Amino acid sequence: MTATLPSRPTTLAGALELLPKVELHCHVEGAIRPTTVMELAAKNGIALPADDPTELYRYESLNGFLEVFFLVQGVLADQGDWARIAYEAAVDGAAHGMVYRESFFTPARLMAKGQGLGAIIAGLDEGCAAAEAETGVVVNLICDFDREFGPEVALATAEELVALKRAGAPGIERVLGVGYDSIEIGQEPGWYAAAFRTAGAGGLRRTAHQGENSGPDAILACVDLLGAERIDHGMSILEDPDVVSRFVDDRIALTVCPNSNIRIANAFPELAQHVYPAMREAGILATLNTDDPALTDLDLGYEYASAAEAFGYGWDEMVDIALDGVEACWLEDADKAGVRARVADAREALRPDLG
Ligand code: HPA
Ligand code: ZN
Repeated sequence: MTATLPSRPTTLAGALELLPKVELHCHVEGAIRPTTVMELAAKNGIALPADDPTELYRYESLNGFLEVFFLVQGVLADQGDWARIAYEAAVDGAAHGMVYRESFFTPARLMAKGQGLGAIIAGLDEGCAAAEAETGVVVNLICDFDREFGPEVALATAEELVALKRAGAPGIERVLGVGYDSIEIGQEPGWYAAAFRTAGAGGLRRTAHQGENSGPDAILACVDLLGAERIDHGMSILEDPDVVSRFVDDRIALTVCPNSNIRIANAFPELAQHVYPAMREAGILATLNTDDPALTDLDLGYEYASAAEAFGYGWDEMVDIALDGVEACWLEDADKAGVRARVADAREALRPDLG
């Protein structure tokens, strides 16, 4: 009997949906299904301002978005809730070709309400492990400091993470690094130097949300003062050619989220005007990501397909972008090589037959 080979996709979008992809900028709380937001709110006795939360998912600015993000985070009450959202976010990503993700979680608001960092991480780990067993998708974690809570809370969180690491706490091996997110206006990267230094000394990798609402000087400060190895967004980088050169020379990655920048930051009227192609033409290692897929009605397959269409990229350029995601990830070399091979093998195996 001869095995029938699966036929190749016949559209670029179809092939991009199947292409094995890495995602380095996705917030687990921004990936909570709207139905889950409603169910957790009901379970935990939390009143939402609308029966259907998606009615709230329209944003004029980053700060407007963050108000909704904080509301959604507020439905999480216990370890089981964290496990549920981690599981659902991972299987939802896997359904669109995501094979590996480094996912943000931002615990400050929930810790201020009395939740323990150890329980949050243990819950996330349970959910990631269940999704991994079911789909094969691998998800590691990045603990983000919430700038709204300031540098002292960030430092205390970094110290606690390092202590959990030393103690071998459940799930802590999944936490590869730290970052920061939330408000940019009125903040200085340097305020967080102690928190990032503590995390780095404790063996954690470092990234930072910057340049979504701030200039290239702030992006550079994240590298120089915080030891950031990647920058999340980095939208304003092209305003300073010296900062661009530094990123190109040192292969410092940007985790760019073009559709989020349209839907959340309202930074460009349409995708075709996004600076993503200019970032890549300048030689920057600019990866492609969704940011907050459930809050913006996105998925990683669409992110790739819409970028290809808006920027005029073909299959090979999109595979190169997927490979850049692998290069910028924080897996150990052997695991990284495995993911790289999966993407590289797909170049011919999934090359769309456009007739
Ligand atoms: N920027 C800042 N804070 C955030 C974001 C973002 O894109 N997503 C979730 N929290
Ligand atoms: Zn983000």
